[in-house]
Amino acid sequence: MVIVIGYPGYSLSTRLADLIGAKFVDVQDKVFPDGELYVKIINPDIVKRENVIIVSTLYPEQEKRLLKTLLMVDAVKNCEADKVILLIPYLAYSRQDKVFLPGEPISGCVVLKMMKTVGADALITIDIHSTRILECFNGLYLNVMVSDILVGHALRYLDNPVVIAPDKGALERASMAARTYGLDYDYLIKQRERVTGEISYTPRELNIVNRDIIIVDDIISTGSTIAEASKMLINRGARKIVVASTHGLLVGNALNKLESSGVSKVILADTLGLRYEHRLIDYVDIARKIVDSLEEFLIKTL
Ligand code: R5P
Repeated sequence: MVIVIGYPGYSLSTRLADLIGAKFVDVQDKVFPDGELYVKIINPDIVKRENVIIVSTLYPEQEKRLLKTLLMVDAVKNCEADKVILLIPYLAYSRQDKVFLPGEPISGCVVLKMMKTVGADALITIDIHSTRILECFNGLYLNVMVSDILVGHALRYLDNPVVIAPDKGALERASMAARTYGLDYDYLIKQRERVTGEISYTPRELNIVNRDIIIVDDIISTGSTIAEASKMLINRGARKIVVASTHGLLVGNALNKLESSGVSKVILADTLGLRYEHRLIDYVDIARKIVDSLEEFLIKTL
C-alpha cells in the first residue's frame, strides 16, 4: 500500500493520491512563537510498515518548505514507515548546480544530500534544471520531463512552429518535445553575466523568418531569458511566440516583461503551490504523466 502525504494546501498531492488510489494523509503544521516550525503526521498508525510518498514543492518560501519536507521525512520514519519516496515537482536551488565563481557552494547538491541524510529512500522530481546534481542524492531517483505535454498544449495556438531552446542547457527538453510532434527545433546561444544576471544572446543562423515559435525552458524566474530571446526572434522575423516552461516562478514584473517582449501565451505546468491568474497564462495538468512514470518507478523501487 502506498500512502501519499501532501504539503498542506498543495493540490497536486490530493490529485495524485486520487489517481493512484492511495490513502491521503494530512499533516498538522504550525509555527512556534519564536518562529520555529512544527509538523505532525495525523494518525501516525496509518503509515506504520507502509511505503510512503511525500509530495512537497519548494516554492515559494523555499527554505521553510525545504525544512518542512525534511521534518516530514523524519516524522514518517519515526512512525516506522517502510520506504519513503520524496516527490518534489519543483526542486529549489537546482540552478546552482556547480561552482560558477570561486567561493560558491553547489547548493542543489546540498539540498539533495540533506534529503538523503534525513532518510528519503528515493526521489522523484519534474524537469530538474540539470540532471547532473541528481547524483548528489546518492540513491534512486527519477526526473520526469513534461515539455512534451506543454508543447502539445501550445500547438493549439500556432501553425507548424519551430521549437527553440533559449540556451544549450534547454536543448534536451526542447528537442524531446519537438520530436514528439515532428517539429523543427533549434537553440540559442545565451550568456548570463554572473554578477548582474544580465542576459545576452550571440547571433547565429536560424530558420525562423515568418515562422511561429515555441520557446521551451525549465524555469521562468525574472522572465529575462525568455523576454530577451523573444525580442531577438521577433527582430529576426519570427511571427508569433508562445512559451512552454515547466516551472513558472514569475518573480516581480516577469509577466509584464514577457508581454512587452512580444510573447503571446505562456504555457506552464502546475508544479508549484501557487497559480497566477493572468490572460497570458495557461496551466497544464501533468498529474497523469507523473502517475504513469511513478507507477513504473515504484515497480522497480519497492
Ligand atoms: C537557466 O539556465 C534556466 O534554464 C532558465 O532559463 C532561467 O533560470 C530563467 O531565469 P530568468 O527568467 O530569471 O531569466
